[in-house]
Amino acid sequence: MASTVPNISLNDGNSIPQLGFGVFQIDPKDTVQAVRAALDVGYRHIDTAEMYGNEAEVGQAVRESGLDRREVFITSKLNNGFHRPDDARRAFDSTLEALKMDYIDLFLIHWPLPTLYDGDFVSAWKTLEEFRRDGRARSIGVSNFQVAHLERLAAETGTVPAVNQIEVHPYFGNEEVRAYDRGRDILTEAWSPIAQGKVLDDPTVIDIAEQVGRTPAQVVLRWHVQRGDIVFPKSVTPSRIEENFRIFDFELDDATMERITALDKGEAGRQGPDPDTFDYVPR
Ligand SMILES: NC(=O)c1ccc[n+]([C@@H]2O[C@H](COP(=O)([O-])OP(=O)(O)OC[C@H]3O[C@@H](n4cnc5c(N)ncnc54)[C@H](OP(=O)(O)O)[C@@H]3O)[C@@H](O)[C@H]2O)c1
Repeated sequence: MASTVPNISLNDGNSIPQLGFGVFQIDPKDTVQAVRAALDVGYRHIDTAEMYGNEAEVGQAVRESGLDRREVFITSKLNNGFHRPDDARRAFDSTLEALKMDYIDLFLIHWPLPTLYDGDFVSAWKTLEEFRRDGRARSIGVSNFQVAHLERLAAETGTVPAVNQIEVHPYFGNEEVRAYDRGRDILTEAWSPIAQGKVLDDPTVIDIAEQVGRTPAQVVLRWHVQRGDIVFPKSVTPSRIEENFRIFDFELDDATMERITALDKGEAGRQGPDPDTFDYVPR
């Protein structure tokens, strides 16, 4: 079986490596080292955000790696304070400046913030459409959008997001949003794919890991990719960065996939904020 990372087609004709490296909560001072380690192992997709405060270090790591810019897929996200169009334009300029790149592969609205900006996330989306038209964002998408938010974009704009990056892991399958995404050719990106480590002690996950001779993290990441979702586990630990990359040389059978899917606790399994009420704006 091929052990390389598959590229998945996006609805706009571009493609994205199904496995990437997430840098949420990596201190800027540790980011260059962590991203360099990931690139050395073979990751070619990095997921950052203005809110994470480490875009500059992501860009530095890519330059220091010696890889061609075009070989690495970079995602960043519009921070919550910048949804108004002029602010979004300035924020996007700053993201490219921090990365020291003249384009980004994927740019997302980080949160819909339906209780802020008079409920208007459509203007922010239309501003992202500008970035795509001028070529500085190759693809555009959303994050933490619920079905109602996606339906509103569909009704009021002409562009379908390439991806919707949402919380998904065995304790929170987020199936309604995933099904909506699938039906509209929007790829689901699963954030916190191992629930920040919380699913790794689960007895079912441990049992499966023993059966297939893999680690709990590899089993859970493999479950995600077999469901067709995109993942980018975060780690600052070199051995884990490598472990999380080795998920394309084994397969889980249908019954095993089902056992993991059955761990879903519905809304009770959600670890992060509820996108319908989340209104945090960093100052
Ligand atoms: N769009 C959004 O709103 C949003 C929200 C959250 C996350 N994200 C994205 O999703 C990415 C991943 O999510 P996440 O960072 O929240 O959590 P995660 O990837 O589910 O888990 C990261 C945690 O698990 C540990 N870990 C990683 N690999 C491990 C392994 N093989 N065995 C044991 N422990 C392991 C890490 O520890 P060490 O680092 O100490 O090794 C870290 O504490 C983020 O980095 C970010 O890019 C997006």
